[in-house]
Amino acid sequence: MYNEQVFTIFGGTGDLTFRKLIPALYNMEMADGGECCPRIVVIGRREYTSSMYREKARDWVEKFARLSYKEEVYEKLAEKIVYYRMDFTDEASYEGLDAFYREMGAKKHIFYFAVAPRFFEIIVSGLHKVDGARDGKVVLEKPFGEDLAAAARLNEEMEGFFSQGHIYRIDHYLGKEMVRNIQTIRFANPIFSNVWDAGHIECIQISAMEEVGVESRGGYYDRSGALKDMMQNHLFQILTIVAMEQPKSQEVEDMHREQMKVLEALSMPENISESMVLGQYDGYRKEPSVRADSSTETYAAVRLFVDNDRWRGMPFYIRTGKKLDKREMQVAVVFKSPAPDIEPDILNIKIQPTEGVYLQFNIKKPGESVDVIQAKMDFCQSCSSVNQTNTPEAYERLIAACFKGERSWFSKWDQIEASWKYVDAIRDKYRLGGIPIHVYKPGSDGPDAAEQLLNSYCHSWFD
Ligand code: BG6
Repeated sequence: MYNEQVFTIFGGTGDLTFRKLIPALYNMEMADGGECCPRIVVIGRREYTSSMYREKARDWVEKFARLSYKEEVYEKLAEKIVYYRMDFTDEASYEGLDAFYREMGAKKHIFYFAVAPRFFEIIVSGLHKVDGARDGKVVLEKPFGEDLAAAARLNEEMEGFFSQGHIYRIDHYLGKEMVRNIQTIRFANPIFSNVWDAGHIECIQISAMEEVGVESRGGYYDRSGALKDMMQNHLFQILTIVAMEQPKSQEVEDMHREQMKVLEALSMPENISESMVLGQYDGYRKEPSVRADSSTETYAAVRLFVDNDRWRGMPFYIRTGKKLDKREMQVAVVFKSPAPDIEPDILNIKIQPTEGVYLQFNIKKPGESVDVIQAKMDFCQSCSSVNQTNTPEAYERLIAACFKGERSWFSKWDQIEASWKYVDAIRDKYRLGGIPIHVYKPGSDGPDAAEQLLNSYCHSWFD
């Protein structure tokens, strides 16, 4: 069925391709009994042959794939992979690519731009020389652009070449199982949906902590930083799902409409230095391709408000950082305490690495005592091997959706535009306000100032 179709990855030797894309394709191949994928052209500058590339890719699959390694499954995938060496920034080389596709008999294209956003435009210009490219689909990695102006230009460029319905702006957090579960947890449970507002909740904390540093992506990351790399896209997607009104239907269009209303209701902190902490891990400036005097943040914590009837006055705290003491992504909902000496109830939606739900609430200490103690219920969904096997990873879901032409769980341009507007405005504000960059130790939980940010409002991060 896929004979004439080709899936091309620009950035075929990059971090994303080896950690996520090729392992995801392997998992899909395994799940679909060898029928998942069209032919795969990986484009890179390195001097590999296809067989050298396939050997390298085998190691990545063994190391990063969710499902266990099976030689016969990998061989099926490997047969479909062709390495094509070219410098994608050189427009002239696209004539060669066109000839190569003709030789393969490729007629239908899916292009995956697994490269930094500054290269998107040059690739599109080059694709003008490739027959049939204009009718293909394109998957664009985030961040989409480097700021609002660049994103708008890029959008125009993309929509001027590819047809609207063929552009897939990926935010892989939208493919994560527990991100998709947030709506169900909220709306299918009256014990939560009836108290999901500023009247009952003290604060909501969204944390995305990473152990890894910038690895081999220093060049990209140094122009980006935590705010653009994680907050403007992944964390705002989660924030809007947590804060939105119940969509009219299960259709993603309805969800999208509600998410947009949240983005539009985000208010700008009046005093940025009291609402934001930025940090950089010690040693970051020595990472490959990072400027020696870089002031790029590898950690950001922000206090935000959603100015609507449901949330007015209740803080959302969002934090993300690299080289921290753990990898953990979660949404902690801290309810209001009924009395000063009683601990708050806490609902913690665990997104990764463990997928599950933790609920903390108050009970009487067993025995004659009338003291109040906390019951801690911890449901681990990913601890079951059946769930593990049956739950595709984000990239598997999204690549499969793109093959099938389902665009619903991809970001829409108006969302991207609204979140850039907000992040650009915050950046302008903190540049003017001269927010300091706190240096923190790799392997720590980030700058102390991030804890103090919450303490100054009588809150603390839930860990
Ligand atoms: C990417 C960011 O979008 O998400 C990376 O560019 C980050 O910097 C990664 O490490 C985190 O993804 P995940 O799925 O490991 O949480």
